[in-house]
Amino acid sequence: FGLLLLVVVFGLSGCKDEKPVTNVGKLHFENPLKLPQLVEPTIASDGTKHFTLTIQTGTTEFLPGKMTDTWGINGSYLGPTVKVSRGDHVTMDVVNKLDEPSTLHWHGMKLPAAMDGGPHQMIEAGGTWSPNWTIDQPAATTWYHPHIHGKTAQHIYRGLAGMFLIDDEDSKKLPSDYGVNDIPLIVQDKLFTSDGQLSEKDDTTFGTLGNEILVNGTYDPYVKVTASQVRFRLLNASNARAYDFGFTDDRSFKVVANDAGLLEKPVTLDRVMLSPGERAEIVVTFKPGEETILHSYSSGSGIENGEFDLLKVVAASKLTESAPIAKQLSSIPPIKAPKDAKVRQFKLTMKSEINDKKMDMNRIDEVVPAGTKEIWEINNFGSSHNFHIHDAAFRVLDVNGKKPPEYERGRKDTVFIPNGATVRLAVEFGNYPDQNHPLMYHCHLLRHEDDGMMGQFLLVEPGTESQISTKLPKTD
Ligand code: C2O
Ligand code: CU
Repeated sequence: FGLLLLVVVFGLSGCKDEKPVTNVGKLHFENPLKLPQLVEPTIASDGTKHFTLTIQTGTTEFLPGKMTDTWGINGSYLGPTVKVSRGDHVTMDVVNKLDEPSTLHWHGMKLPAAMDGGPHQMIEAGGTWSPNWTIDQPAATTWYHPHIHGKTAQHIYRGLAGMFLIDDEDSKKLPSDYGVNDIPLIVQDKLFTSDGQLSEKDDTTFGTLGNEILVNGTYDPYVKVTASQVRFRLLNASNARAYDFGFTDDRSFKVVANDAGLLEKPVTLDRVMLSPGERAEIVVTFKPGEETILHSYSSGSGIENGEFDLLKVVAASKLTESAPIAKQLSSIPPIKAPKDAKVRQFKLTMKSEINDKKMDMNRIDEVVPAGTKEIWEINNFGSSHNFHIHDAAFRVLDVNGKKPPEYERGRKDTVFIPNGATVRLAVEFGNYPDQNHPLMYHCHLLRHEDDGMMGQFLLVEPGTESQISTKLPKTD
């Protein structure tokens, strides 16, 4: 009897902890991949591009025959793709048609803090927020999503997210025909109730973890490609899940960009791991008529990553040839911190805190001279986290004293911090001093962020740091 009990207890607990979450064998790849539309700007006589983004509710058919209540931007689920060029001046109207406040944050954008769309730039129900700024950073796949303190997970999970693409002379040499050989892939895990609604059950230490995957809001998707070289822009817009992307035939591809810009040179690989908020651009070569499946392998990141089929890719029988991928991609020198750069340390633990503090909207945690470069050292003493800094780009200097893998040596704004690791970043900050509007740094596992794993910093006029009060002078 004792042995039986042991077997039963062991069996049950083993089942709970080890059963791999997977959809492999379940999909039929029946639905054409949805492509987020490019939002058309109106262009003023001085060239300013004006975009309107309306946050609204809707219903979406993900699972066959089931209508799901969702939120979206200019549509029922997710948002349109904003595409601009370096040097453009943009103005936005963000209209909130929800019956509760929200925000829209431009993740990965260098811009004045008051335009950032973080938790201090709330848009009341029925209100409109109209930021404007000049795009002044290298080409990158950035994105936008709400950033309400305590409710970011819910608002993103219900569908509020979209791509914001910046191009420049370097990036235009890559396949750039949107939807043809330049295809965004927004990857999100979802949990559905039996009647097809989005379940927000968040009973894990990582919050909500889904067992179904949507790509661009498409369940069970396939995509037909007509070019021999296709650039996929991968965005992990999941609340917590990490993906180790690859193809089921183990084909290699070229990684050409990290979150915040092109790599110096393409890196040939067959896997690329992205934690929530991270992006990668990859270029995949196809032969006429072939098929493969974009897949997520278990990477052992410690963030629940399961194993999933994501998207079947079918190459047409005739493919348009594209120009070979350049050997030199980015013409921008890598981010280097000066020898005497200020070093700041950030401690992460099992708790949703940074440096033993929970986020406080009225407390400034760090005061940073605008336009400078610093070294930020993140020490993770528990669980798996990642780290994102607003209004900044960084280069990963080392992970536990070792250089990061080659594909992670470009410009980034979000980085995975393995359990137990020390990660050092050379951070290049935005150059818009503003002592009234704080910017955020945080774990991008949304449950952790909502629980308070976030801090605030000000970018101030260099030399004035010591005069700045760490109590917030005013709130919007
Ligand atoms: Cu993607 Cu602070 O956000
Ligand atoms: Cu975390």
